[in-house]
Amino acid sequence: MKIAMVGSGYVGLVSGACFADFGHDVVCIDKDPAKIESLQRGVMPIYEPGLAELVTSNAKSGRLSFTTDLAEGIAGAAAIFIAVGTPSRRGDGHADLSYVYAVAEEIGQTLVNDAVIVTKSTVPVGTGDEVERILSEAGLKVKFAVASNPEFLREGAAIGDFKRPDRIVIGTDDEWARSVMTEVYRPLFLNKAPILFTARRSSELIKYAANAFLAVKITFINEMADLCEKVGADVQDVSRGIGMDGRIGAKFLHAGPGYGGSCFPKDTLALLKTAEDYEAPTRIVEAVVKVNDARKRAMGRKVIEALGGIEAARGKKAALLGLTFKPQTDDMRDSPSIAIAQTLVDAGVEVTAYDPEGMDLARPLMPQVAMCDSAYAAIEGADATVIVTEWDAFRALDLARVKAAMNAPVLVDLRNVYDPAEVRAKGFAYSSVGRP
Ligand code: UDX
Repeated sequence: MKIAMVGSGYVGLVSGACFADFGHDVVCIDKDPAKIESLQRGVMPIYEPGLAELVTSNAKSGRLSFTTDLAEGIAGAAAIFIAVGTPSRRGDGHADLSYVYAVAEEIGQTLVNDAVIVTKSTVPVGTGDEVERILSEAGLKVKFAVASNPEFLREGAAIGDFKRPDRIVIGTDDEWARSVMTEVYRPLFLNKAPILFTARRSSELIKYAANAFLAVKITFINEMADLCEKVGADVQDVSRGIGMDGRIGAKFLHAGPGYGGSCFPKDTLALLKTAEDYEAPTRIVEAVVKVNDARKRAMGRKVIEALGGIEAARGKKAALLGLTFKPQTDDMRDSPSIAIAQTLVDAGVEVTAYDPEGMDLARPLMPQVAMCDSAYAAIEGADATVIVTEWDAFRALDLARVKAAMNAPVLVDLRNVYDPAEVRAKGFAYSSVGRP
């Protein structure tokens, strides 16, 4: 089966490469000639474990190709996925759908065979109706249907998530579209991945509801962590204790510096906007957005506290280990490290940093932070070392070496990766999140 993927960004590229790996014939399309040219050379525009190998091997076998020409790319495709960006619109937080609609217009002008048009981009409820209207008004001579098929890929684990999904959600009322989509996902069907067919609007909302719910879980445990610090409880135990209840579930209950990334911050805002437009306010999500925003700067203040308070901190040096919003990615979007660094800089603290993948994208976001070549270079002479992102490389630091390199042995562990007793036994003043 031929599949076209319009948009070769994170989602389009991972999905396209995985479909090709399943044996489909996939063309990835993008307007950016530099991106297409580098993909043709096997150079990835993003960092994602396993992606380069997957792209290269499928390109070599002839099942995966790249083009900037949409008309050529979609010709003969039974399913055309729209996987372009839907960034937060400046000013109001609404998802900016201009790229999605521009692709729909172009498909309307160039489609020459029957095809199912599938929105994979995260789009607000009702976007599928609008895409359908655009295509209808284009006066197409061929049969088409519009379906919704949201992605649930985690950065850093995207290929595994695609190939072994908890579920596949497909939103359409059209029998023919249903059969085409069943064919698209047949290889996963054989692996017993559950496919949930719903109405298109339900499918569109499922994506936002899922991300918002996960953001709620994280924010809930983060607030419990703050409470733990006040009452002398341990949030790791609280998390384990509630997570063992099957109704709650153990995942996404890890307390930390607040969620970031390309999805949760943007999608929670877009959901609020939809809820407002339809006069069905989602107060819980409103609170989550506010609490999470405030948390990032609060983590900066936690570091200032560890440096001895606002007076003492001025002129001292803090080393940030990890800058990306989570490990295994170079993505800096809405990373807590940005607000943490700014809070420290505002307080007159000198800030150094090291991140295995994120420093190039971080540099312009935190111009006053000195980027270093290694974790040990960053902590040289520091008055506090702060673990901001739980990269594996920071899980087993040589603490004796760390202590010797630092000006004062202060460790602020915002991801709870170390055992407090062990670190304190090595002579560190240690603080973490939600633990006594
Ligand atoms: C998320 C969703 O998981 C995915 O299904 C969706 O398609 C896109 O958004 P992603 O943003 O890649 O994926 O990362 P995820 O692993 O979900 O983490 C998001 C943020 O939450 C990170 O900042 C992470 O550090 C934080 N987080 C996650 C926690 O603080 N605690 C947790 O227990 C889990």
